[in-house]
Amino acid sequence: MEIISDKAAMAIRCDAVRREGKTIAFVPTMGYLHQGHLTLLKEGRNLCDYLVLSIFVNPTQFGPNEDLDAYPRDGERDMKVAREAGVDTIFTPSNEIMYGPNYQTYVTLENLPHHLCGLSRPVHFRGVATVVTKLFNIVQPHVALFGEKDFQQLAVIRQLVADLDFSIKIQGVATVRESDGLAMSSRNAYLTPEQRKNAVVLYKSLNQAQEQVAGGEKDASIVMEKAKATILSMPGAEIDYIRLCDPQTLDDVAAITGPTLMALAVKVGQTRLIDNKVLEP
Ligand code: PAJ
Repeated sequence: MEIISDKAAMAIRCDAVRREGKTIAFVPTMGYLHQGHLTLLKEGRNLCDYLVLSIFVNPTQFGPNEDLDAYPRDGERDMKVAREAGVDTIFTPSNEIMYGPNYQTYVTLENLPHHLCGLSRPVHFRGVATVVTKLFNIVQPHVALFGEKDFQQLAVIRQLVADLDFSIKIQGVATVRESDGLAMSSRNAYLTPEQRKNAVVLYKSLNQAQEQVAGGEKDASIVMEKAKATILSMPGAEIDYIRLCDPQTLDDVAAITGPTLMALAVKVGQTRLIDNKVLEP
């Protein structure tokens, strides 16, 4: 496994791989790798000849009062895990390499960011879209893999690939969960044992909603009220949003008549957790 931190060296490596006629799968991450990331890597390994992982805690997707400095990091462990996952090359650029002193170009989307997480994290998707565009230009993969856990992020990436004419296949991967149902996340490391135990209410509320909808409930506000009560049963939980929306546009729906995205963001102490499920009537 090769570790590259320079952009030009990374581009040259990927060019050489493509010239050999090999296909490249790419998994962008911010590190502190867990089973969710590993599932993306495994699927990438199956889809292509060559597997590239990037680890970069991207400063432009964090707001001024967010957890950029506290974001968990363990480079040594990540290297070991990546090697075991069959990664061919890890790209680990520094902030200075990704954003030079005169950096001034950003990728913004008109509509998708003005929903869900974008409302409480106004610069987040601009940062994600920008860094992913840059990484795509450096690696030029055939396939890039993203988790459905970050549903809105996946929608933003699909949109930018279509709008900016990248010839990259975007492969979504189902959310990987702990044994009690909590969606795996690097941020789960922030939770106290008590908070960790209670955090299962997010998953519980999504399943409850699916049961309601399967039982014929069509009123989105009734489904959201029940989810709210379930989540607030957790001590110290603060709801950022509970939304039922169209899975393509992310616009709110009042009535559940087809597959509907239920998306949640909940603050538990200082930790912000997200989860989602597409509800099927
Ligand atoms: P990060 O949070 O490290 O996640 C990297 C990838 O792993 C994302 O595609 C995310 O959706 C996926 N992932 C995380 N937890 C998952 C889980 N439990 N199940 C399945 N997939 C999961 O998302 C980012 O980094 C960044 O925003 C990034 C795209 C790298 C841009 O900086």
